[in-house]
Amino acid sequence: LAVLTAGSALAEYPEKPITIVVPFAAGGPTDKVARDLAEALRKPLGATLIIENVGGAGGTLGATKVAKAAPDGYTVLLHHIGMATSPGLYRNLQYKTLDDFEYLGLINEVPMTLIGRPTLPANSYAELAKWLDANKGKVNLANAGLGSASHLCGLLFQSTLKNDMTTVPYKGTAPAMNDLLGGQVDIMCDQTTNTTGQIEAGKVKAYAVTTTKRLTAPALAKLPTLDESGLKGFNVSIWHGLYAPKGTPKAVVDKVNAALKVALQDPDFHKRQEALGAVIVTDARVNTADHKKFVEAEINKWGPIIKAAGQYAD
Ligand code: MLT
Repeated sequence: LAVLTAGSALAEYPEKPITIVVPFAAGGPTDKVARDLAEALRKPLGATLIIENVGGAGGTLGATKVAKAAPDGYTVLLHHIGMATSPGLYRNLQYKTLDDFEYLGLINEVPMTLIGRPTLPANSYAELAKWLDANKGKVNLANAGLGSASHLCGLLFQSTLKNDMTTVPYKGTAPAMNDLLGGQVDIMCDQTTNTTGQIEAGKVKAYAVTTTKRLTAPALAKLPTLDESGLKGFNVSIWHGLYAPKGTPKAVVDKVNAALKVALQDPDFHKRQEALGAVIVTDARVNTADHKKFVEAEINKWGPIIKAAGQYAD
């Protein structure tokens, strides 16, 4: 009967809408990837996809919600590099990253940009470096909380520059962007999926990109890399993946992974994401085993860097 039930459960899956939990505020880069992906997943998965934004604590509140959700395939998590940085940052994390999730596949890599409030008196990275140096101890750096992509990039930026800044955490970089536009904070390291539009509209100061190669998206091509601007070896790009609670039936995991592989080939998904600087992962990397291996390697890579920074949340 169990086999029959499992079989019939699969035959019906999905028989109701699937919730994608986004662990940051609506309107930010993680939310942007989720909404674009949900559009591309609808047909191959044969389901309505609902986005639920659960912000806070650098994405760990949303991740915890999914780790504790029913393992029935109707609640999944779309998260980013925070899956690999939170274990080192949160001493009483409510889940074990490698044990409490099923790995459904990687999605994309998104470069970051260093941007400033429109009134900041610096119009190039060189001028920004001088301003930061002259204002040591007075600079406000926005991020989306400990463990967020913007936090990680800001951490590396401060330690490479040897310039400690006051960090102002938000529930996502969408609300952070509002305060940057209003001049309440000075700079932010944020993903191109959130900054490209503002840069194109000339609404923020744009200083550099965080990848070692310049970007090709028209609005970003003129930005120098931090690496070429003197921060040798600076290289941060933010990967995103899909997760389900541990114990979700393998047949369901495989069905979602298969649908994800189709969605990642969707021409409209490619167009929308690439226009914002994102790079879709190759088909070979989307399998569940490689996804889990990649996250484990990233946890081991970022652990020592985070430990050296000595920032923790209890
Ligand atoms: C981050 O900094 O982790 C993300 O930009 C947060 C978000 O998606 O708002």
